[in-house]
Amino acid sequence: MKSTAVAPSNIAFIKYWGKKDKKLRLPENGSFSMNLSNLSTTTTVEFDPKFKKDTVVINNKRELKKTERVIKHLDRVRKLAKIDYWAKVVSENNFPTGTGLSSSSSGFAALSLAASKAAGLDLSKKELSILARQGSGSACRSIPDGFVEWLDGKSSQSSYSVSYKSSNYWDIIDIVAIVSQAEKDISSTKGQEYVNTSPFFKTRLANIKSKINKIKKLIDKKKFRQFGELIESEALELHAIMITSKPALIYWLPETLVVMKSVQKWRQKGLEVYFTINTGQDIHLICQSKDKDKVISRLKQIKQVNKIIINKPAKGAKIIKNHLF
Ligand code: PMV
Repeated sequence: MKSTAVAPSNIAFIKYWGKKDKKLRLPENGSFSMNLSNLSTTTTVEFDPKFKKDTVVINNKRELKKTERVIKHLDRVRKLAKIDYWAKVVSENNFPTGTGLSSSSSGFAALSLAASKAAGLDLSKKELSILARQGSGSACRSIPDGFVEWLDGKSSQSSYSVSYKSSNYWDIIDIVAIVSQAEKDISSTKGQEYVNTSPFFKTRLANIKSKINKIKKLIDKKKFRQFGELIESEALELHAIMITSKPALIYWLPETLVVMKSVQKWRQKGLEVYFTINTGQDIHLICQSKDKDKVISRLKQIKQVNKIIINKPAKGAKIIKNHLF
């Protein structure tokens, strides 16, 4: 059987960084994110008794490292569905991979939905989120709709994501500023292994639950300024952990800092915009939709910004009819 799914990437407002169980990808802490309307992965999966091996093509390329991770995920699906057929997987992102735009979140969410359907399973959103989490932690947040909380959980069955508010609840905008398309040299999976070497990680963990509660309250009341201040300081805190890990993880480029400094300057002049950033050099600017055009026109004046991608809050992973092969 053949199935195709499309899933959004997501941007974490309160971030996931560090695992309490590496194999199951159980996070050290809960996190909170928003699905993104213009960063997505489309994936077609077919299981067929005629196939002689698994084939995986991502963005028209066959790369061993990425293929191995996909095949491990197909094995999880085969085990759930109790089948032993080989599969063909074709997957395409509509945005650059490995630059901090979380292609693994949209990628593993789309793969989980397409592969489980193609294997004849009809998983609930909770089951899909649990499955996606095992491929890439943040992928479990790309299954439900809109604004999403990942409940950290103590076991595989209790670590999954739920929708906190639907995608049309709040018209905030995420404008991605792409400053370089170079792939980062240390993946999130690898980088997270060093989290406990930062002397500040314990302090972060002690405060993270109250941060999640705080962001939910600010979203309830749509208090944009306080929301923005919280997400920007959270992103900087995450990078403080990364920079003080051993080895030090420095994901920013000089161009990233140019954008950060500009955002702070624009704010001093009254434009309400905040930034957040993951593992990579590209940076997300968050503003209210009324300020979108102003933010875009200012960003366009920064020569270090190569490309801009504008996102609204989006629904989660879904099945579509148009197959990629
Ligand atoms: O799911 P991973 O292994 O790609 O890790 C994601 C880590 C961050 O993007 C930095 C934070 C997050 O919560 O998305």
